[in-house]
Amino acid sequence: MHHADFPDLSTERLRLRTLRADDAPDLLALYADPEVMRHWIHPPWTALAQAQAAINEAGRDLASGAALHLAIIAGPGDRLAGSCALYDIAHEHRRATLGYLLAETYWGQGLAREALGLLLGHGFATLGLERIEAEVTPHNLASQSVLARLGFRREGRLHARWRVGGATRDVDLWALLRQGWAA
Ligand SMILES: CC(C)(COP(=O)(O)OP(=O)(O)OC[C@H]1O[C@@H](n2cnc3c(N)ncnc32)[C@H](O)[C@@H]1OP(=O)(O)O)[C@@H](O)C(=O)NCCC(=O)NCCS
Repeated sequence: MHHADFPDLSTERLRLRTLRADDAPDLLALYADPEVMRHWIHPPWTALAQAQAAINEAGRDLASGAALHLAIIAGPGDRLAGSCALYDIAHEHRRATLGYLLAETYWGQGLAREALGLLLGHGFATLGLERIEAEVTPHNLASQSVLARLGFRREGRLHARWRVGGATRDVDLWALLRQGWAA
């Protein structure tokens, strides 16, 4: 299950590529937007150094196989529309966790479902995963809708799973097994 040589994953509208050092300003803009981060498990970022650290960590994780963090590029140019990831990759259990976000201007066009379709296909077919999980707050209806359409099932609620800004946050655990993956 190697993914150091990341393949070209694209549809007519978008493509996925690995993150680069010069993505830091775009990544910060994404993670600093309070609307985008409303349901996230940490507060919005405030400094470019946070984006730079995340990109450095993504590079290390790509090399070790621990995670695959990707830029979502939509339309012409090479700027980030969003990002998506398979992280906490547990090779021995053939399991990983899915994460994703889009800049607000790209919401409501079905882009997340399309990007995640590519990433899930890569996870099941190329990385050999059997199970992909996602943690979603109960109020995040758009995210739940994306997961449900991709075939994920809600397995249960994890109470007080995270602390964000001094308050506890519940999440629902969703999962998709390889046999539930249609593509
Ligand atoms: C979650 C997210 C990636 C969805 O991306 P998207 O490309 O806009 O998703 P879609 O266009 O496919 O819309 C998803 C569905 O949610 C619905 N929806 C969108 N916003 C909604 C809202 N506020 N309330 C209810 N439903 C909503 C859409 O109508 C669509 O419904 P459909 O599946 O029946 O067509 C995007 O909203 C986002 O980046 N949110 C912030 C980050 C985040 O929460 N990430 C997920 C963490 S688990």
